Amino acid sequence: MKIAPFAVEEWMNQYETKASCNIAETCVDSVSLDELLALCGEPRQAFLDRLCARQLTYGDIVGAPGYLEGICGLYRTLGPEHLISTHGAAGANHLLFYSLIEPGDRVISVIPTYQQLYSIPASFGAQVSLLPLRAEDGWLPDLDALRRLADGGAKMICINNPNNPTGALMEDALLQQIVEIARSAGAYLLCDEVYRGLNQDGGTSASVADLYEKGISVSSMSKVFSMAGIRLGWIATRDAAARAVCLSHRDYSLISCGMLDEQIAALALANREKILDRNIALIRENLGILLHWAEQEDKFSLIPPKAGTTALIRYDLAPDSVSFCRGLLEQTGALVVPGDCFGQEKSFRIGYACDADQLKKGLSLLSAYARTL
Ligand SMILES: Cc1ncc(COP(=O)(O)O)c(C=O)c1O
Repeated sequence: MKIAPFAVEEWMNQYETKASCNIAETCVDSVSLDELLALCGEPRQAFLDRLCARQLTYGDIVGAPGYLEGICGLYRTLGPEHLISTHGAAGANHLLFYSLIEPGDRVISVIPTYQQLYSIPASFGAQVSLLPLRAEDGWLPDLDALRRLADGGAKMICINNPNNPTGALMEDALLQQIVEIARSAGAYLLCDEVYRGLNQDGGTSASVADLYEKGISVSSMSKVFSMAGIRLGWIATRDAAARAVCLSHRDYSLISCGMLDEQIAALALANREKILDRNIALIRENLGILLHWAEQEDKFSLIPPKAGTTALIRYDLAPDSVSFCRGLLEQTGALVVPGDCFGQEKSFRIGYACDADQLKKGLSLLSAYARTL
């Protein structure tokens, strides 16, 4: 089966370990297990004793009850019977396309976004139509264009809210209009919601799984909860038939997720307010640093992100985005991701939810590098 190279992941794989100042990472500054236990006020030894005593079986096949209950707390209308535990959101997206998309199906995806949302369905033989998000629209979808693409039916519409790489946020009213378009097309609405809960105003946008009977929400512990190392994500949908097909395919590709990982995730979700307080404070402070830097710069500009951990920054300099980012890394050790990975030339993606001092250092390296061009 042929598939396009996953541009952003290939870039990160190649350069992540070579960077001395990584401002490309999309997780909110990851926590250690010790930090998690301290944040949650959980006695360390008792927690470790419980983990160590577990017999290492396959565990609960669909997901541990405490973990699934914790996920339900992130939705208005869902119970454990609407969820499937997966290996990260990456595993969730893959399982969905593997289960629901057949050759010839029409799939619509926004772009720029996480490349899984259009390259995987294309690899399964779907006819994929891209809906470009434009800076002049604040990186929000043009609904008339979406309606035109969905006219005549579609199997699935794929969106990403909040958006990676732009940090744009679709508010509830806009989501509701997209639901109506999906409903008239008879389409599933897959929303990659891995950054949901990280709004700069402290609020949380609606989930398509709550809004729409064929809505499918994908999320994970990686970004919002700073725990990519446990590789846990999920699919959430009230569409029982879609969930059943995913479960059937999942038996062939995954069986179950790590039982120790699910215990760690359950603890984090039971204490989600504490983790969210930490992480929202961090993204607010760091966005302030980023915007303050951008105000002083005449070669760089951005549309301020409303949510998530990333921003797409345009630059007014000669090199194309791959040369720009390679040169930055070679000359300064700072890592960002070329806009080329998202079909957005003359720009790069920054991940600003890292440690604040690292962000400041990376931004000053960017300024110094720009002066050499
Ligand atoms: C929009 C989006 N979806 C999915 C993923 C994969 O995340 P996970 O670590 O949960 O597999 C990422 C990671 O960067 C992402 O940005």
